[in-house]
Amino acid sequence: MTTSTLPTTSTSAAVTTRGDAGTSTDSESATYAVARDRSAVLDALIDGHATEDPARFRMLTGDRPTGPLHIGHYLASLRNRVRLQDKGVETFVVIADYQVITDRDSVGEMGANVHGLVMDYLAAGLDPARTTIFTHSAVPALNQLMLPFLSLVTDAELRRNPTVKDELALSDGRPLSGLLLTYPVHQAADILFCHSRIVPVGRDQLPHLELTRDIARRFNSRYAAGHSVFPEPEALLSEVPLLLGTDGTKMSKSKGNVVNLRDTADETAERIRAARTDSERRITFEPNAPPAVANLLTIAGLFLDESPEAVAERIGDGGAQALKRVVTDAVNESLAGHRARRADLARDPAYVTSVLHDGNARASEVAERTLATVRAVMGMSY
Ligand code: TRP
Repeated sequence: MTTSTLPTTSTSAAVTTRGDAGTSTDSESATYAVARDRSAVLDALIDGHATEDPARFRMLTGDRPTGPLHIGHYLASLRNRVRLQDKGVETFVVIADYQVITDRDSVGEMGANVHGLVMDYLAAGLDPARTTIFTHSAVPALNQLMLPFLSLVTDAELRRNPTVKDELALSDGRPLSGLLLTYPVHQAADILFCHSRIVPVGRDQLPHLELTRDIARRFNSRYAAGHSVFPEPEALLSEVPLLLGTDGTKMSKSKGNVVNLRDTADETAERIRAARTDSERRITFEPNAPPAVANLLTIAGLFLDESPEAVAERIGDGGAQALKRVVTDAVNESLAGHRARRADLARDPAYVTSVLHDGNARASEVAERTLATVRAVMGMSY
């Protein structure tokens, strides 16, 4: 049982940058501002202490295997996972296969999608010796945690979840399935089965993390006489702003506006050549103007580790053509190593499968142990 807690020192390094409030309410913005502050503190703590005590910062995060990963995933999350792993944080990555069927009727190319994710993880630098990569469906004990956890939430709480509401709205008038309604509880099981302390997430996932913390707290008080069977995990928010597709709208496979990690350099050049821009010769970074050009500058800047303003300055009067050249080169040069490693892995599918099998076995061991504790504290060890 884990009883230690993460320190809550405040540091002057914790600066709040209030993100674009978008359509969110004031209270959501306030929650976001607090989460940003706390993320800066966590980052500093990880820097100082991760190698001394990796379990203290154990992290879990994951992806739904719905298709290939694109540069948005890479810049906003994959790169950051590798960074945390390399700092000594004990890392778990769930390929959330049961989450795929929350809002769609078919499982799609599940096997190929899962295999593709593992290849991208390895190519990006996740190291299977230090990072446990697994799928929901291969870890029965994790899924079983869902049953006691479901007893700790009400249907009203689940119906209020803004992410569930958004996903329902996007699911083409499908009725709300039991799995969509309860997937935040399943996600709590993902996070809590391994006693994860840190969950790197985007802003949209904050309500899920709050629910996970509620479930941990309620489990401890209702079923474990106040013992800390489950520590309350914390969000580590991504620093990366919301990235859009090459047409300046939300990235989406069906709109053909994404650059995938597995694409070739030529496919990448082609996609960026077709990107929406404007007819201004002088390229400037205007975050509040129509977003297509600002978004391209942001993407180039993230790959080049420069500000979007500096990238714009360099392009100067070169117009859209020069902008597209800079973006294409930034993406292709930065991803050349990733793509070469991915191509090598594609030639060795048995290795990729073995990484997943090892990860599944390791995650199952951890989940079995957690479930045994849960059964014990609930008086269900017969
Ligand atoms: N819901 C997340 C997404 O769509 C994926 C995910 C599943 C996840 N389980 C998780 C993220 C647990 C963080 C923690 O991106």
